[in-house]
Amino acid sequence: MGSSAAFKRILLKLSGEALAGKQGHGINTDVIKQVAQDIAEAHRGGTEIGIVIGGGNIFRGIAASAGGMDRASSDYMGMLATCINALALQDALEKEGVPTRVQSAIEMAEIAEPYIRRKAIRHLEKGRAVIFAAGTGNPYFTTDTAAALRAAEIGAEVIMKATKVNGIYDKDPAKHSDAKMYLELAYIEVLNKGLKVMDSTAVSLCMDNKLPILTFNLMTSGNILKAVNGETIGTMVR
Ligand code: GTP
Repeated sequence: MGSSAAFKRILLKLSGEALAGKQGHGINTDVIKQVAQDIAEAHRGGTEIGIVIGGGNIFRGIAASAGGMDRASSDYMGMLATCINALALQDALEKEGVPTRVQSAIEMAEIAEPYIRRKAIRHLEKGRAVIFAAGTGNPYFTTDTAAALRAAEIGAEVIMKATKVNGIYDKDPAKHSDAKMYLELAYIEVLNKGLKVMDSTAVSLCMDNKLPILTFNLMTSGNILKAVNGETIGTMVR
């Protein structure tokens, strides 16, 4: 039992793509188990955890619309993909002993609770991790924007954006060996420099609501606990 948690309530944004692991698509059972174990550890420390999960490992709405599909239709397909990931994560978390509730922004009562802000907060207070599925329920909004919105709604102290990279770099670290990672950035720098941490709608929402964004690598085991304990990892935007 850790009691060193620096945050009382967080919103964890998980990349859907990271769940695919090396296979590149779908859900890798080893990866989701590791992620669930990491979340469980942070949860045992007493931090209340809301989770928004992407769907890019199953379906990427933006890519499909770039390929000619109607943007709204492809975004709805992306939202359904997040529901699949939410149920998989719920299963994995409960196997690690973390009670969870899934709330969906698109009503599908047989599968998940509807999103009700006050109920989500009650769940968190009762020690349940709450997974927010189906993004914001609206096309043209990303799951990053859903994370910013839900974080503001539940009164999270920080958004923890866990992805496949260590933090925010001045250039693409996959293409440039001299890319430098920032330790801290201002929202406005992210927007002005066009840094790809979150889309501009999500960053603006965080800026307006003074919600810090911590980005770090999900694939490094133990990072979620470190982030929750306030250790310096990744890049902090505030
Ligand atoms: P408390 O009221 O704090 O006891 O919360 P609770 O979530 O345990 O109570 P509730 O009776 O609302 O839910 C019991 C179970 O049913 C939980 O696993 C919920 O996630 C689930 N549940 C509640 N509402 C819905 C719904 O509309 N659809 C689906 N699919 N499940 C639901």
